[in-house]
Amino acid sequence: MCGIVGYIGPKEKKEILLDGLQELEYRGYDSAGIAIVEEGALHHFKAVGKLENLRRKTENFTSSGFGTAIGHTRWATHGKPTELNAHPHLGKFSYVVHNGIIENYQALKRELQEEGIDFLSQTDTETIVHLFEKYYTETQDAFEAFRKTVEKLEGAYATLLITEVAPDTIFFAKNGSPMLIGFDGDDIYFASSDTAVIGKAKEVYYLEDGEYGYAKSGKVHLFDANGEKEFTCKPLPADKLSAQKEGYRFFMEKEIYEQSEVVGDAMLGRVQDESIYFEELSEGFFDGIEAIKICACGTSYHAALTASYLFERIAKIRCEVEIASEFRYKEPLLSSDTLFVTISQSGETADTLEALKMAKRAGLKSLTVCNVDNSSIVRESDTAILTRAGIEKGVASTKAFATQTMALWMLVLYIGEKRGTIDKETLCREIDAMRHVPKALKVTDTLHARIHRLSKRYLHGHGFFFIGRDIFYPLALEGALKLKEISYLHAEGYPAGEMKHGPIALADSELFTIALMPKTMHYEKIKSNVEELSARDATICAISPLPFELADDFIPTTFDTHPMVEFFEMMVITQLLAMEIAIRLGNDVDMPRNLAKSVTVE
Ligand code: F6R
Repeated sequence: MCGIVGYIGPKEKKEILLDGLQELEYRGYDSAGIAIVEEGALHHFKAVGKLENLRRKTENFTSSGFGTAIGHTRWATHGKPTELNAHPHLGKFSYVVHNGIIENYQALKRELQEEGIDFLSQTDTETIVHLFEKYYTETQDAFEAFRKTVEKLEGAYATLLITEVAPDTIFFAKNGSPMLIGFDGDDIYFASSDTAVIGKAKEVYYLEDGEYGYAKSGKVHLFDANGEKEFTCKPLPADKLSAQKEGYRFFMEKEIYEQSEVVGDAMLGRVQDESIYFEELSEGFFDGIEAIKICACGTSYHAALTASYLFERIAKIRCEVEIASEFRYKEPLLSSDTLFVTISQSGETADTLEALKMAKRAGLKSLTVCNVDNSSIVRESDTAILTRAGIEKGVASTKAFATQTMALWMLVLYIGEKRGTIDKETLCREIDAMRHVPKALKVTDTLHARIHRLSKRYLHGHGFFFIGRDIFYPLALEGALKLKEISYLHAEGYPAGEMKHGPIALADSELFTIALMPKTMHYEKIKSNVEELSARDATICAISPLPFELADDFIPTTFDTHPMVEFFEMMVITQLLAMEIAIRLGNDVDMPRNLAKSVTVE
């Protein structure tokens, strides 16, 4: 997601910032900006889109004297990706960059506005710079003003501030979002991840939550709740690729762990107290819409299938799902009261894009749920809901699926509310469940260790069946897809009730069944389906909050009050299981054979 860099010293600051931001590109962003204080004067540049645009804007600017500098790449959460919303944010004489979320920004903003302060952007970040300037005006002491500002902030943040009133100083604070300080002699660097300073700084200090302070004249003054403190630096890792993985063995692993955070980001500003809000959907967008047709491929198709259950059950709107490559050649009958929805992580999948073009030619209104702004599918669609997962590097999709499913669930509630097919009580219940999802997505050490341990029993056999009912059927399909993509073992997803219509013929002790057994959805029915398999000696790995005595292996879940929360928790388990099996088999989890991240050919 967003990236931060900072520098104090005599070197060419523009290049240090732009190079640092380039190294953070892998995290994803949709706008970027830099600010520099040099010889007492502030300079700043911002651009929407790629860093190239920012480079072009700064072509004729150089910054070679001693000064302070901060830069940022932003992935839009509060407010659209525009120049005004891009960081650094400006007050009257200071600039700030920030990662994370200031949870109490609305209250702080209201207070500041009541005191006559104007806000230029829709971001939570801008409150930081106005608070600082207000306290500076009161105290005439820049560090005291910064300390008082930090004291007011609630939520997660990593922030840097520079100001004309202390032109040789960078103020910093960290709570919940990552930030480090890098050192090379008297030159001091800041960054949200060490890739940005590899090759520049020699050693680093990784800030802890609650730490803040200032850097000046080659020295960092570090504080926490107990006052000023000493700190010890570590040598900087030399390998950029492993630094990008942030300590995880594979990008896929990092992305699985990130799901809790990115799903939270996908909900930001959209899940409100008693309603769902999408700033990208105009009032009346769904007027005249009586049905939904979703087209997608692979994992995105599984998110679509999941949503189709919810659209019909909760929003009471007809919903059909088609694999894009099939849809294109079946000469489908399309009617203009149908909303055509595409789902795509990359926004470049050829079959999905062509299906969308066909639907548009037939006069259908279109909406895409996509992770990449300005991608071909986003540009081709009437409107887009961005999933905000950040760049997904692992070829096997994980966090994209999680955010797609969350975005679609929110869309179901939004449409249900607009059509009046969902009552307040149901809406509030769904929203309450939604708020539990980031917790259900957290990977605990115990869970990961358990899956790692039992994965050794699943490295052979003649195949896997992932089975589930209702929304857990698309999850079974997705679990099987993950496993086959990275382990190269044969796996199929099946509706549990369908096994007896043929597939059960395969059952024996070498057939592994991964049974998704949620408590809140047809538990007794799936239980009897699994019993049928067990009676034929199939090896059963049950995933459930309820103990199941016929299971050969059992992975207990903890959330058992809403099917969607159970869904997300089980999703993480199937992803980890696939990954641990693939790692034991010695496969390249991030780049499985024969696969590409973006499929731009038919
Ligand atoms: C599976 C996977 C693929 C993609 C499919 C569609 O892990 O990544 O199945 O889901 O190629 O790609 P997008 O979502 O980019 O349209």
